[in-house]
Amino acid sequence: MLEVKDLEVRYGAIRAVRGVSMKAEAGQLVALLGANGAGKSSTLMCVAGALRAAAGSIRLMGEDVTSARPEAMVRKGVATVTETRDVFPDLTVSENLLLGSYVHRHDRAGVAADRERMLQLFPRLGERAGQAAGTLSGGEQQMLVIARAMMTRPKLLLLDEPSLGLAPAIVDQIFEMIRVLKSSGLTIVLVEQNVSKALQLADTAYVMRLGRIAAAGTAAEIAATTDLGALYLGG
Ligand SMILES: Nc1ncnc2c1ncn2[C@@H]1O[C@H](COP(=O)(O)OP(=O)(O)O)[C@@H](O)[C@H]1O
Ligand SMILES: [Mg+2]
Repeated sequence: MLEVKDLEVRYGAIRAVRGVSMKAEAGQLVALLGANGAGKSSTLMCVAGALRAAAGSIRLMGEDVTSARPEAMVRKGVATVTETRDVFPDLTVSENLLLGSYVHRHDRAGVAADRERMLQLFPRLGERAGQAAGTLSGGEQQMLVIARAMMTRPKLLLLDEPSLGLAPAIVDQIFEMIRVLKSSGLTIVLVEQNVSKALQLADTAYVMRLGRIAAAGTAAEIAATTDLGALYLGG
């Protein structure tokens, strides 16, 4: 489904991603772990088309998408949830969801059905459909941006630290939401600091360190063999 090969991302002279290769098979959840500054977001944003690859290649369902723009990636079935958790605060939950369906705007009936499906799948959002998004808790806003991303009808969902800054009980709800999406057959790449929770859900995992892949394997292998604490503290 997704194959990243020898990817490099640079910010001027800074080499944030230095030859990253990773794969996600259809229906899998791939965890991308590592300390702050390791290059996880840069990798994800490059796959999303939001950052240019300085070298290497990205293939999606067999197609070379290395230079595809963000909107093209959305049309090809890649949805991205960035770290910023940006809802439109004055619009309702329901309106926020509809904004996510921009690429399908000519299919009004389909979009309405998508929205109903999201509101039913995630009752916390359903109960707040008519409420301004700015009045939601941080966790509910995170659920909303994930559900909004789903409105593009993705085959691949890229999630950048969805649990960041949320209370433990809320983190559980976010992970439950991700589990529900995974069980629907969606392929997911999940960047997370919450290593144990990410590895519980993941099929495979990659650990990044200083722009490179420091470890890769099944989630069970990574959990058993990798000194994740050291990797995180080691920066
Ligand atoms: N916009 C930017 N300009 C310059 N350097 C950046 C920018 N974004 C990230 N970096 C640098 O790239 C490296 C990787 O960052 P990032 O991909 O955000 O890591 P992570 O998501 O793993 O915390 C870090 O050294 C970071 O300081
Ligand atoms: Mg990041």
